[in-house]
Amino acid sequence: MKVAGLGQCSLDYIAFLERYPLEDTKEEAKALFIQGGGPVATALVSLSRLGVETEFSGVVSDDDAGRLIIKGLEDEGVGTRNVKVRKGGASQRAFIVVNGKTGTRTILWKRPTVVPLKVTEVNGEFLKGAGLLLLDGLMKDASLKAARLAKRLKIPVMLDAGKVRDGMIELARLSDYIVASEEFARGLKLKPKAALAYLASSNPRAVTVTLGKKGSVTWRNGKIFSQKVFRIKAVDTTGAGDVFHGGYIYGVLRKWDIRKTVEFASAFAALKCLKPGGRTGIPALKETLKFIKR
Ligand SMILES: Nc1ncnc2c1ncn2[C@@H]1O[C@H](COP(=O)(O)OP(=O)(O)OP(=O)(O)O)[C@@H](O)[C@H]1O
Ligand SMILES: [Mg+2]
Repeated sequence: MKVAGLGQCSLDYIAFLERYPLEDTKEEAKALFIQGGGPVATALVSLSRLGVETEFSGVVSDDDAGRLIIKGLEDEGVGTRNVKVRKGGASQRAFIVVNGKTGTRTILWKRPTVVPLKVTEVNGEFLKGAGLLLLDGLMKDASLKAARLAKRLKIPVMLDAGKVRDGMIELARLSDYIVASEEFARGLKLKPKAALAYLASSNPRAVTVTLGKKGSVTWRNGKIFSQKVFRIKAVDTTGAGDVFHGGYIYGVLRKWDIRKTVEFASAFAALKCLKPGGRTGIPALKETLKFIKR
């Protein structure tokens, strides 16, 4: 079954440092590299590694970054027919500093300067044959249109709620699965469990708030449970949330129960953190299942 995703795609410039730098200093990085990123784009790459067919929709500029973003998706087998390439401007880029001591990442990013996906550019053809639609809500109008279209076509919608911004609550109300970050809960001025209750009020199938290395909490059918992280020595947590969403979607497609789904997503995301960058470390299915058993 195909997964459709509409949202952000970025080019990440990653600097790997011994420790987090001080302001107004020069620091030689241990390594510098460039790879594709963005919540929806990386989640689809992770699904592709699990053998799921994926189709991405978003915007890039016709700049070098845009070409690398598209190439990064195509090399991973993610469909890019619904990516709009606009003339001029700049694609979304992010500068990421990884603290080698803790594996934590600090992200400085800029959304594309080209016109976001227009409502008229979202159509049923993109959703044809999809078993689920993933959104991250940065492009509000296009995301709302896609969510409404999916509803009409009886395609479940998952929202990656990373940050409280205009349209996010409306999108959450239209979503069947809401997988939010701790930052999103903080934006609502709620503790994670209170955020679950708040987001569950539209009666979705499940709501999860991820808490970085503190794991995650999930609401399902009026009950809440916690999932601890799989303890690993994190090299780089960039993209952990995106890969968690990919793993979560995999469980939903396989119709696994919610606990197994969240456990799988956690293991999948933890393994990703063993290698630098948002995508390099994304494991295959076999490796993830073996890691869970261990
Ligand atoms: N250091 C870590 N060790 C093991 N697992 C981790 C670690 N950091 C994150 N994870 C796993 O990944 C999940 C998602 O991480 P997190 O909550 O940081 O996502 P996020 O805030 O959406 O960030 P982003 O989308 O930028 O990756 C966590 O719930 C956890 O299961
Ligand atoms: Mg996230």
